[in-house]
Amino acid sequence: MDTTWLASLPALLIGVAELAAALLFMYGLHRMASPATAASGISVAGFGMAVAVLASFLYAFNVEAAARPDLYLNLGLAVVALLLGGAVAWWAGRTVAMTAMPQMVAIYNGLGGGAAGAIAAVELFGTKTHGMTALIVTLLGALIGAVSMSGSLIAWAKLNGVIKKPLRFKGQQAFNGLVFLATLAVGAYLVVASEDKAAALMTVPAAIYLFFGCALVLGILMTLPIGGADMPVVISIFNAFTGLAVGLEGYVLQNPALMIAGMVVGAAGLLLTLLMAKAMNRSVSNVVFTNFGEASKHKPSKIKGELKPMQAGDAGIAMRYASSVIIVPGYGLAAAQAQGKLFDFVKLLQAGGVSVKFAIHPVAGRMPGQMDVLLAEAGVPYDMIFQLEDVNPEFKTTDIALVIGANDVVNPAARTDKSSPIFGMPILNADQAKQVFVVKRGEGKGYAGIVNALFYADNCHMVYGDAQAVMVEMIEAVRGLGLPAVA
Ligand code: TAP
Repeated sequence: MDTTWLASLPALLIGVAELAAALLFMYGLHRMASPATAASGISVAGFGMAVAVLASFLYAFNVEAAARPDLYLNLGLAVVALLLGGAVAWWAGRTVAMTAMPQMVAIYNGLGGGAAGAIAAVELFGTKTHGMTALIVTLLGALIGAVSMSGSLIAWAKLNGVIKKPLRFKGQQAFNGLVFLATLAVGAYLVVASEDKAAALMTVPAAIYLFFGCALVLGILMTLPIGGADMPVVISIFNAFTGLAVGLEGYVLQNPALMIAGMVVGAAGLLLTLLMAKAMNRSVSNVVFTNFGEASKHKPSKIKGELKPMQAGDAGIAMRYASSVIIVPGYGLAAAQAQGKLFDFVKLLQAGGVSVKFAIHPVAGRMPGQMDVLLAEAGVPYDMIFQLEDVNPEFKTTDIALVIGANDVVNPAARTDKSSPIFGMPILNADQAKQVFVVKRGEGKGYAGIVNALFYADNCHMVYGDAQAVMVEMIEAVRGLGLPAVA
């Protein structure tokens, strides 16, 4: 019986598995576009990743005889790495608090960039000779991956409060520019060295180390001066970088699953970057190259009026008697995990015939889509959730805006105060409602670290307390009215 086809079976299976993985990534991403299907989209893309990872073990069948002695050791190491990495990721995924999710995204992003850089290092230090194009692509992937890795780790440190302040010094941008040029120069040297010697690059290992060193330092230097308020844009830039680096290394390895996954992540990261920048009314270059976002130097323009406290129960009852309420959730809602209680309260209002809508700002919370996810978790129907452009005209005709754990996203200084670090950012027009109730614990500032003039406005009352405790009080007060539900 002819069994020669058996030899080509692994390659065929790899091809089929990689194509299937790529299709699963794209279908998964498509499902992530809507909150209703997002969770299943993540499972689909995760399944695609499992297929791609398992299929990569089939490469073991194609290893040349000369390299076989190391094969079992390497396979063993790969399995150990998978088990260790999988266990840590499983544990972290189950235990991470919703509010610490951006840090986790930053770490994963950094590791993705680092993995792309590691693939490039294996290629550069390996014994294979490189064509000019493959070498340049490898170096580009190495540069972008390494920048993304060290930059994301700094972003993690900032989000986690390990690095508390942006680090800036005179001539910083010129210095960063020099480091960038030095990295390019070392890369160019590697290309020339490889051409001259027509040999493996290991002959110039010091230059390869220098190249990676410069790229890692560049990522750190780029991220250190960026202010806290700009972190969302920075994280999505690094997300796009990681995708690009992975795609480039996929080209070098001629691995379609890596190429497609990299391109999908790169494109999604780029679109997210542009959307984030638009939501904050900033250009991407403005975020990366200027020192905007420095809140500590900002002196708030003179704010008139005073803070007017109100009891939670009274605010709850006022909303029960209103005809329309728009709720603006923010970071504090996630911190208090009050979404379930908030929706219980909303159901009471609706039972009383009050029209209730949720208004979502694109950068509310600490990561893109965080408010949508929170509300979905609580079971809020999607047709009650409105994005900024759609809901903003409605505040003028709304009885009460309930701002819960939000601050920067409703700060009118963004419209009027040119010296404010958030000037120009579109905000939710909560201040235009007939009455505004703000739920927060005290006089804590928002992420941008600035005073909010809305809290001092004539039509605004402050309901002090942890968002969850306040919602419980509001629910009790409305239930205490004993009013019948409206049919
Ligand atoms: P913030 O402006 O950060 O304000 C949150 C408010 O919640 C604080 O003023 C705090 O006041 C209150 N709070 C905290 N814990 C609370 C609790 N347990 N109960 C009740 N209130 C609580 O939030 P925002 O309006 O959602 O704006 C988001 C900000 O984060 C923007 O500046 C944005 O640029 C930035 N950012 C966004 C992202 C993304 S992608 N969404 C990522 C990083 C940074 P008290 O301390 O007085 O309670």
